[in-house]
Amino acid sequence: MSNYLNEQFGLEGQTAIVIGATGEIGGALAEGLCRAGANTVVVGRDEETGTKRAETLSDLSDAGDATFIRCDTTSKSDLHSLVEQVDDQFGRIDVLVNSAGVNSATPFLEIEEEEWDKIMEVNLKGVFLACQVVGEYLLDQDEGGSVINISSMAALTPLSKVFTYGASKAGLVNLSENLAREWAPEGIRVNCIAPGFFPAEQNKEILSDERINDIMRQTPAGRFGEANELVGTALLLASDTAGSFITGANVAVDGGFSSKTL
Ligand SMILES: NC(=O)c1ccc[n+]([C@@H]2O[C@H](COP(=O)([O-])OP(=O)(O)OC[C@H]3O[C@@H](n4cnc5c(N)ncnc54)[C@H](O)[C@@H]3O)[C@@H](O)[C@H]2O)c1
Repeated sequence: MSNYLNEQFGLEGQTAIVIGATGEIGGALAEGLCRAGANTVVVGRDEETGTKRAETLSDLSDAGDATFIRCDTTSKSDLHSLVEQVDDQFGRIDVLVNSAGVNSATPFLEIEEEEWDKIMEVNLKGVFLACQVVGEYLLDQDEGGSVINISSMAALTPLSKVFTYGASKAGLVNLSENLAREWAPEGIRVNCIAPGFFPAEQNKEILSDERINDIMRQTPAGRFGEANELVGTALLLASDTAGSFITGANVAVDGGFSSKTL
C-alpha cells in the first residue's frame, strides 16, 4: 500500500471483531479488514468454518493476525467471554462488524411467533447485545472506535415477502442512528452498510427464478453483487482517518437497486 493509502485506510495495530465472519459477507469483510492490517477476530457459531477461515487469514502475508472465537451473538455471556478473550489476545478493540443474520420468506399470515422471534433475536437483539457489550469496552478504552452493522435493502423500504427480516433491519438502522448520536461525543462512529443482493446461505431458499428476475429488473447494474464489493465501504467506515466524519449513515452498496424508479 502507498504511504498515502496506508494513512487513509491502514488498520495496522488495530483489532477488528467480525461477528458472522463464518458467512459470505462477514467472511469477505474479515478478509478485507485483515488485509488492511487489523488483527481480525472471526466470530460465529460454526467452529469448523470459522477456524478454517481464521487459518486462511493467518496465512496472508502483509496482513494482521487472525483468530476464531466461537460466540452466539444472541447470548450475552458468550459476548462477554468474546470480549475477554479478544482483550487477552490483542489488548484492544477498534472495530466491530455485526454481520450475523437470518432470513425467511414465509407468507405473512403463516409466520409463526417462533420464526418471528428467531429472526428478531439474531438480526436485532443480537446486534443490540453486541453493541452493548463491545460498546462498554470501547467506552472504557476511551480511544474511539467504529461499529459497522449490516442492514439491507429491506430496511430502506418494505421488500416483498420478507416481513420479519425487513422489520428487523429497519429496527437495526434506527438503533444504529440512535447509537451514532449517543456515542459521537466519545469518538465512536456507528454506521450501517445496506447491501443489495448477494447470493448466500441465508437467502438461497428465497432466490427463486421469479424472484431473481424481479431483482434483476430493479437493479440497474443487472447482476448480483459479490461479497468482496462490500469491502471498500467497510474499510472507509472502519478507518478513523478516511471515515472520521461519517457516522449515522446507512450506505447502500446495491448496483443502483435503491435508486431505480420507472
Ligand atoms: N446476502 C445478501 O444478499 C444480503 C443482503 C442484505 C443484507 N445481508 C445481511 O448481511 C449479513 C450477512 O449475510 P450473508 O449473506 O453473508 O449470510 P450468510 O448466511 O452467509 O452468513 C450469516 C452468518 O451468520 C451466522 N450466524 C447466524 N446466527 C448467528 C448467531 N446467533 N451468532 C453468531 N453467528 C450467527 C451464520 O452461521 C452465518 O455464518 C446478514 O446480516 C444479512 O442479513 C445479506
